[in-house]
Amino acid sequence: AKDPVRVLVTGAAGQIGYALVPMIARGVMLGPDQPVILHMLDIPPAAESLNGVKMELVDAAFPLLKGVVATTDVVEACTGVNIAVMVGGFPRKEGMERKDVMSKNVSIYKSQASALEQHAAANCKVLVVANPANTNALILKEFAPSIPEKNISCLTRLDHNRALGQISERLSVQVSEIKNVIIWGNHSSTQYPDVTHATVKTPAGEKPVRELVSDDAWLNGEFIPTVQQRGAAIIKARKLSSALSAASAACDHIRDWVLGTPEGTFVSMGVYSDGSYNVPAGLIYSFPVTCAGGEWKIVQGLSIDEFSRKKLDLTAEELSEEKNLAYSCLS
Ligand code: NAI
Repeated sequence: AKDPVRVLVTGAAGQIGYALVPMIARGVMLGPDQPVILHMLDIPPAAESLNGVKMELVDAAFPLLKGVVATTDVVEACTGVNIAVMVGGFPRKEGMERKDVMSKNVSIYKSQASALEQHAAANCKVLVVANPANTNALILKEFAPSIPEKNISCLTRLDHNRALGQISERLSVQVSEIKNVIIWGNHSSTQYPDVTHATVKTPAGEKPVRELVSDDAWLNGEFIPTVQQRGAAIIKARKLSSALSAASAACDHIRDWVLGTPEGTFVSMGVYSDGSYNVPAGLIYSFPVTCAGGEWKIVQGLSIDEFSRKKLDLTAEELSEEKNLAYSCLS
């Protein structure tokens, strides 16, 4: 039998945490033959509720779940973890300035970075979900210099999956037949959902999405803002932000990262830019990636037309501004 993998979920008493921990304990994230030990962190005001989640995990009697650590102590939470899913953060409340929210999250991610650096297992993979996800991941990277930058990522898989969902509905095809949509940039409304390289498996072979939709007005008009603003549409409908889809996307992200992407398929991950596609190096930016052997690689050589170029640059600019804002909060 395999040794259990220790998976940390921060903000585990929150909405996404509540949807995510049972998925992990059922093998959705790491596979049906991989035992796990869950580490759950939240802050003291949520301690009682966190303990309730732990009680439910016991009650669910998950065969793969070999242990649960539920704590408000960040060192205890981070000790020995192989995978860290960072969902905890400070939400934007009514009337708060962007800078105030940034400042709260920068200080959370700065201190959690050091705890991970000092106490996590060597080669721990980190996924930041909490917003501003890209910039929180960047802060984590900067304040955990001994964690290799290839081990730090942020979640844009939800946006990627939303793009698959929209194409699936439009063309009345299964999502499993669609591949290679791309989310470029920030997990915010400036992200660029790109279908230029996406294809659909049809009885007549693989066809480009652009050919099958054959309505550029829909693709460039409605599709893009629908994906960009899907989070807001969910809040409007549910009066709460996306949780089950976010949790599911976090599992997809880690599963593909650890177990690999299928041949010929790429997915979107927020990763440290090396300057590919002329995206400024030093930003955490969502790129198309393939994964093998536990490592992601940015897909190279995709053509970028003028329309796409502008959109890639716009979201990069926003990320540079966020980075500056984050740094101004540090000083
Ligand atoms: P929530 O408010 O229900 O849960 C957040 C939890 O984090 C709370 O239990 C809170 O007590 C905890 N927390 C706060 N500070 C903490 C700290 N310093 N350490 C540990 N835990 C801490 O929020 P929800 O709906 O679960 O969302 C979590 C985050 O994920 C938010 O920042 C949200 O904006 C983000 N999000 C990101 C998505 C993405 O695709 N990247 C999609 C959906 C949400």
